[in-house]
Parts: sequence; structure tokens; C-alpha cells
Amino acid sequence: MSSSATSLSVPDLASIQALAHNDMAAVDALIRRRLASDVVLINQVAEYIVGAGGKRLRPMLLLLAAGALNHRGPDAHQLAAVVEFIHTATLLHDDVVDESDLRRGRKTANAVWGNAASVLVGDFLYSRSFQLMVELDRLEVMKILADTTNAIAEGEVLQLLHVRNPDTDEAAYLRVIERKTAVLFAAATRLGAVLAGADARVQQRLHDYGMALGYAFQIADDVLDYASDAQTLGKNLGDDLAEGKATLPLIHAIAHSDDATRARLRAAVEHGDTDAMPEVLAAIRATGGLDYSRKRAEDYADAADAALEGLEDNDYTAALRGLARYAVSRDH
Ligand code: IPE
Ligand code: IPE
Ligand code: MG
Ligand code: MG
Repeated sequence: MSSSATSLSVPDLASIQALAHNDMAAVDALIRRRLASDVVLINQVAEYIVGAGGKRLRPMLLLLAAGALNHRGPDAHQLAAVVEFIHTATLLHDDVVDESDLRRGRKTANAVWGNAASVLVGDFLYSRSFQLMVELDRLEVMKILADTTNAIAEGEVLQLLHVRNPDTDEAAYLRVIERKTAVLFAAATRLGAVLAGADARVQQRLHDYGMALGYAFQIADDVLDYASDAQTLGKNLGDDLAEGKATLPLIHAIAHSDDATRARLRAAVEHGDTDAMPEVLAAIRATGGLDYSRKRAEDYADAADAALEGLEDNDYTAALRGLARYAVSRDH
């Protein structure tokens, strides 16, 4: 593909994966190699969740961001593995906190081995990611990842404070998803720029792209929790309501329903009441909560796209644009 052709068309996921294929194969091999521990249970749990796949979106973003700035190499593979390890650790922890029992089409690790094993192996993956990161011996990289993991923890605790709180509004929801999800996307793309030796302005652009993409991705995820099916999603639907977590579709419904319906929706959040799911779905439908949320996700995808303006137009920047579209059109 010539760069002028890519400026006219946004590639689909398969073309993006093809572009990143060799680098991702190297990252995957690195992940497998560096999972190892002589503690058998760690290998079992870590292999189980890593082997279940996952979209590997965050490491791919790091590689594509570096590639957009004409940088490829083993340092990018190493940091891509770091980012995926951090992500995987948060999933192990998240499924304990959310009491989820399906992830990546399999029973969750907590459902198979229990909460203690999941939390502790999550800690193993977190600290293993730091070991990999330190090997690169770059203070700038360590600062970004230290700040990012700290913000993710804040995001998860902030979310906990909103559990079963029907007053959670859109602004509060956005504050949570920035930290629990978007900051890791932003770190991935910023790190790609850092490895490429980009100046502060370009680093900021890649950071802004990742941040906006992260918002879009999480909002789309919260739509799928109401609008997909477990087979396709690889996760159970309705988990958010069961946890008493008011996400954007429901926040919109609460804000736009009549008083009687609003009272029942608020009670459903307060009690994490899945029996109320039919009524919640009806209210979301009646108020256009899914379309509204999809539109918000698309706005963030547009912002991600806009952040790339001024960068060299090549196959990798086209792939980044493609991932922004994918984040909001995906079905799992
Ligand atoms: C799940 O992330 C957690 C969210 C931020 C919604 P992904 O959807 O990227 O999970 P995997 O890695 O593909 O399973
Ligand atoms: C995902 O949170 C964010 C992190 C793991 C930090 P969610 O709870 O919204 O994601 P799913 O739906 O379980 O994947
Ligand atoms: Mg969860
Ligand atoms: Mg979810």
C-alpha cells in the first residue's frame, strides 16, 4: 500500500492485524516466555487467562504508535508485553471485584481457582510487568507506567465508591472510565512515541489519541453489556447492573425517564437487581440510551482521529485510525 492510498481509506481489523502480525507474534512469544514461574499455580492461572486469547489491543496500539513514527524493534516488543501484562493483571482483579464468572469465553480464573488465587496471580503479573519494564532502564518509561498503574487503581476504587449509587451521573462515569481504562490506552500509544524518540508535542498527540480511544472503547464495552450476547462477547451480559454499576446507557435512561420509571431504575441500581433487567432494558430502549452512548463513543473515536492530524500519513497511522473505528463498531 502506498501512503497516499491509506490516506483515502481506513483499514479494517484484519488488515491492521496483518500489518502488525510479525511484531505481535514476537510479543506473544515474549509474553509466553516471561509468564513462567517455578510456582505451579502461577503458571496454571496465568497460562489459562493468557491462553484464552483476548484482542491484544493495547500491545498492538503501542506497536502501531511506534510504527507510525517509523520505529520498530525489540524495545517495542518488550513494552508491548508489559502493557498486556498490566492489562491482564487488572482483568484478574476486576473479575474478583465484579464477581464475574465468564471472561474470554471461559470461566473466569476466580470461578475456577477462587478469589485468593486470582488476586495473588494478578499481583504476580503486575510485578512481573515491572521486572520487564525495569530491564529497559529508562526512567521516562518507568514514570509513565508508574503513574498509569497508580491511576488505574484509583479508577477502580473510584468506581467502587459509585457502586449502588443511583446518583452517579455522566461526569462521574467519565471520571471513572478515564482512570480505569483510558489511561492505559494513552500510556500504550505515548510509550510508542517515546520509544520512537518523538518530541513532546508528538508524544502528546499520541497520548491524546490513546486517551480518546480508551474512552470510546469503554463506552462501547458498556453498550455491549446490554446489547450483545454472551457467546459473542465471551462475557456474561448484565454484569454491570448485577454489580449495581450505573454505566452510560442506564445513566441516560435514569436522567430521561418519567418519575415513576426513574424511581424503579434507581432502586435497580441500589439493589443490583437483575430481576429488573427487562424493565431496565425497556427504559434504555425508550430513552434511546444505547444510541446516545454509541454516539458519545463515536465522538471520542472522532477525537482520537483528530489527535493524529499532522502526523506522517503512513500505513501505521492509517491503522491507528482504523482501530479508532473498530473500538466503536466491534461486537466483542
Ligand atoms: C476488557 O478489555 C476490559 C475493558 C477495558 C472493557 P478488552 O476488551 O480489551 O479485553 P481482552 O483483552 O480483549 O479480553
Ligand atoms: C474493565 O472494567 C477495566 C479494568 C479491568 C481496569 P469492566 O468491569 O467494565 O470490564 P469488563 O466488562 O469486566 O471486561
Ligand atoms: Mg468487570
Ligand atoms: Mg464491562
